[in-house]
Amino acid sequence: MLHAKISGIGYYVPEKVVTNNDLEKVMDTTDEWIQERTGIQERRYGKKHLETTTTMGARAATIAIERAGISKEEVDFIIFATLSPDYYFPGCGVLVQRELGITQSEAGALDIRNQCSGFVYGLSIADQFIRSGMYKNVLLIGAEMHSMGLDFSTRGRNVTVIFGDGAGAVLLQPTEDPDKGILTTKLHSDGTFAEKLAFENPGAHGGYHLDKRGEAHDLQYSDATYGEMFINEHMIQSGQIFPVMDGQFVFKMAVQKFPEVIMEALASANLTTSDIDMLIPHQANLRISQFVQRKLGLRDDQVWNNIQRYGNTTAASIPIALCEAIEAGAVKPGDLVCLAAFGSGFTWGSALLRW
Ligand code: UT7
Repeated sequence: MLHAKISGIGYYVPEKVVTNNDLEKVMDTTDEWIQERTGIQERRYGKKHLETTTTMGARAATIAIERAGISKEEVDFIIFATLSPDYYFPGCGVLVQRELGITQSEAGALDIRNQCSGFVYGLSIADQFIRSGMYKNVLLIGAEMHSMGLDFSTRGRNVTVIFGDGAGAVLLQPTEDPDKGILTTKLHSDGTFAEKLAFENPGAHGGYHLDKRGEAHDLQYSDATYGEMFINEHMIQSGQIFPVMDGQFVFKMAVQKFPEVIMEALASANLTTSDIDMLIPHQANLRISQFVQRKLGLRDDQVWNNIQRYGNTTAASIPIALCEAIEAGAVKPGDLVCLAAFGSGFTWGSALLRW
């Protein structure tokens, strides 16, 4: 049966390394706190004015396309997953098409806003397009330029120290080989706790969620114009234009959902945890990955973690880690690779693929 396989993979991380000690200089935090709670030692930040989510995505995509052995013009569909787009709209899908110089092809472009699980969702979408025979060369990119949208005061320290910039990309093509490619994908969501990890402003909620939670806010929304309700000085002054997270709540949900969705994928493919050769968890927190590893009974060499060096790169974390694992020879042809992610929404998902 027709399904998708990854024919080419690439990643790009910016040159600038930002250590925990560097962050100590701008906010009240310590290297010890960050390493103990998250495992992160350093992360990368893109070059201001010169790099964006799109340009980093294009760097990763160029490598993936070359490794797939096709020309850029042959890409017939683009999927771009990010929570830190260059613009509110249009999305990075069309921007990366322009950056790659392939607008003449008029290939479709789709943006995915599923945060940490964006890459797994994108993989599933690409697989469905390929299974249906609609497309033959699907480019999937996960990229983030978090550094442009973080609160570098102590107020934002619980979120800011975690995130880093980077991009990963894969080029997917059809195969009929049952021992190669994507075996299954599982996708889930539960919007009950949408604001537990969110970037609310600017937005069209007009204070609705804030009122619903019974929280006081200074602006008299009834007197404000529509435009002021979308973005205003008060939001900027009070830091409401930065992401917020109830870390402990998210952590508890993550350690529950990661193993659940991995077991679900294994069961549907008639496989067990002992069949997994390599688990690539979304790099949210080293403690979460270690918990999942223990729960599944996997050895250290069966789980790829790089959060120590890159922090959490959201939609980019899985393709960067997968690419690194392949380049290091830790994933070999025929290996069963399990990808899994959980994040804001909440949305979560898993994918099993035979390399
Ligand atoms: O990828 C998307 C999904 N995201 C996740 O999966 C993240 C899940 N959550 C986490 O990884 C952890 O909850 C965090 C790493 C974000 C936070 O760790 P925590 O152990 O849950 O800390 P906490 O938020 O409960 O805060 C504990 C203390 C607080 O101080 P008090 O109230 O005990 O005095 C915080 O103010 O640590 C303080 N704190 C910090 N201290 C130094 C929070 N951030 C920092 C910081 N440096 N950067």
